[in-house]
Amino acid sequence: MKRISTQEFGKLKDGTPVQEFTLTNNSNMSVSFLNLGCTLTQIRVPDHVGRFDDVILGFDSPEAYLGVDNPYFGCIIGRTANRIAQSNFSIKDKEYPLSCNHGLHHLHGGTSGFDKKIWKLEEKIENNKLAGLRFSLISPHLDEGYPGNLSISTFISLDSNNNLAIEYQAQTDMTTVVNLTHHPYFNLTGKAGESCLNHELTIHSKSFTESDQELIFTGKIFELDGMALDFRNRQPIGARIDVTEFPMQYTGGYDHNYIIDDSQQPDIQGCRTAAELYDPLSRRSLVISTTQPCVQFYSGNFIPKGLVGKNQAKYFPNAGLCLEPQGYPDADRHKNFKSNILEPAQAYRETINYHFGIK
Ligand code: GAL
Repeated sequence: MKRISTQEFGKLKDGTPVQEFTLTNNSNMSVSFLNLGCTLTQIRVPDHVGRFDDVILGFDSPEAYLGVDNPYFGCIIGRTANRIAQSNFSIKDKEYPLSCNHGLHHLHGGTSGFDKKIWKLEEKIENNKLAGLRFSLISPHLDEGYPGNLSISTFISLDSNNNLAIEYQAQTDMTTVVNLTHHPYFNLTGKAGESCLNHELTIHSKSFTESDQELIFTGKIFELDGMALDFRNRQPIGARIDVTEFPMQYTGGYDHNYIIDDSQQPDIQGCRTAAELYDPLSRRSLVISTTQPCVQFYSGNFIPKGLVGKNQAKYFPNAGLCLEPQGYPDADRHKNFKSNILEPAQAYRETINYHFGIK
């Protein structure tokens, strides 16, 4: 009923093969991903006439995924999602310099973050509900500057209800910080030349964390009332994207971290709905739920024009959008943000669900 298949996706420069795995459910929805960065390479879902298309952006080769032009297509992000100001943070007054890969700052886990690593396949699970694969990674003490040997597991599964789930677990042997997310760029039209500006979006949030002209978090939290950032009522993404007043004066579109409304009752997994996306053309829908407290909405503003992707597709700004469930960014600098500190006695566990449908 469910199928798991494996194929070689190419090789790294040193000859290491990169594997691509595909999970297919009994409705023929499929999800493909690599052991390189747990990168989602394809998500194929039907539209309202039953036509299957791939609804995420990506590349055809491992070199392209490792290239400097890759805007983090589809991959896991770790140890910490988003920006850490001045590439340093401190734990109990001890400062840790981090690798500096974004001007003076640290972005998405650094120069060689979890997205650039080959993950070890640990386990394949197939039962009558789901098919999934578990990968593991050991991030050594001072990897990209972070303290502690961190052992991480990522379980990617697809169920018969068209739900793609990503479950993270991590443990450390020293106090450290962990804030994982995944970074697929969605375009529910499934057509390479279309932008995502006609997609309609709901974000279950009434406030966001302010960032400055370098997109560094200031620690201030603002209510969304009256702002072009407010997506509590479903809105086309393009409707207000050109607004340049606060807080959109530096971002060239949406690139903001929303605090998920915690007045929602979590489901039995502890997940709340972060966002709902709908494409009126294909009538495909996507509901993202998570255990994490925040979601970064990035409307693909910096995708380089002409970036060559899968099947020679030429991407452009707004060719896809990201909705990245995560912890509070740069939380250890801002004591009003919920901390991302992980202690040796604790177990890090977070879940992201991407539930696809047709409306
Ligand atoms: C997003 C971030 C953007 C940009 C992008 C990668 O998560 O919000 O500002 O850095 O990743 O190109």
